[in-house]
Amino acid sequence: MSETKKQKGFTLWFTGLSGSGKSTISERVALRLQRKGLPVEILDGDIVRTHLSKGLGFSQEDRNENIKRVGFVCNLLTRHGVAAVASVISPYREARDANRKLIGNFVEVYTRCPVEICAQRDLKGLYQKAAAGEIKGFTGVDDPYEPPLNAEVVCRTDTESVEESVEKVLKRLGELGYL
Ligand code: ADX
Repeated sequence: MSETKKQKGFTLWFTGLSGSGKSTISERVALRLQRKGLPVEILDGDIVRTHLSKGLGFSQEDRNENIKRVGFVCNLLTRHGVAAVASVISPYREARDANRKLIGNFVEVYTRCPVEICAQRDLKGLYQKAAAGEIKGFTGVDDPYEPPLNAEVVCRTDTESVEESVEKVLKRLGELGYL
C-alpha cells in the first residue's frame, strides 16, 4: 500500500451505562468495518478487566485508570492505522476527554438509554444485585455517569433498533472521512 493510501486509524469510543448496548452495537460495527477490509481491534470493558486492567475495581480512581489504559492502547493502535473500538462505561467526562486529546482521531459514541430500561434488560443480573445492595457503587444506580456533551454519535438504544444504531455510526464515520 502506498503511503498516501494508508488506512487512517481512528478510535471509536463507546460510552454508556451497563446494558445500554455498547457491546452489541460495537461488535456489529466492528464486523462491518472488518468486512470493508479495515484492521480492527475491540477493547471491551468486560474483557479488558480480566487482562490489561485485572485487579482494578470501580472507584473513580480505578475506573479512570482503566480508561487511561484502554486509551493508551487505542492510541498505539490508531497510530498504526487500526480501527480501535473501545467499549467501556467510562463514566467520567474528563477521562474520556483526555483520551480524545491524546488520540486525536477520536469518535465518541454515546449509547443513550434510561437507566430504568437498562435495569429492565438486566442482561447480567447486576442491576438486581445493585438494587438489593449486594453491589455498591453501580453506575447509574448509586454511582455517577456523566454523559458526553458533544458525542459524534448518539444512539438512542431505547427507541432505535440495533441496525439503525449501527448504520448511524457507520454513516458518521463516513462523514468524518474515516471510511
Ligand atoms: S468502567 O467504569 O471502568 O468504564 P467497564 O466498562 O470497564 O467500567 O466495566 C463495566 C462492567 O463491569 C459492567 O458491564 C459490569 O459487567 C461490571 N461491573 C461490576 N461492578 C460494577 C460497578 N460497580 N459499576 C459498573 N459496572 C460494574
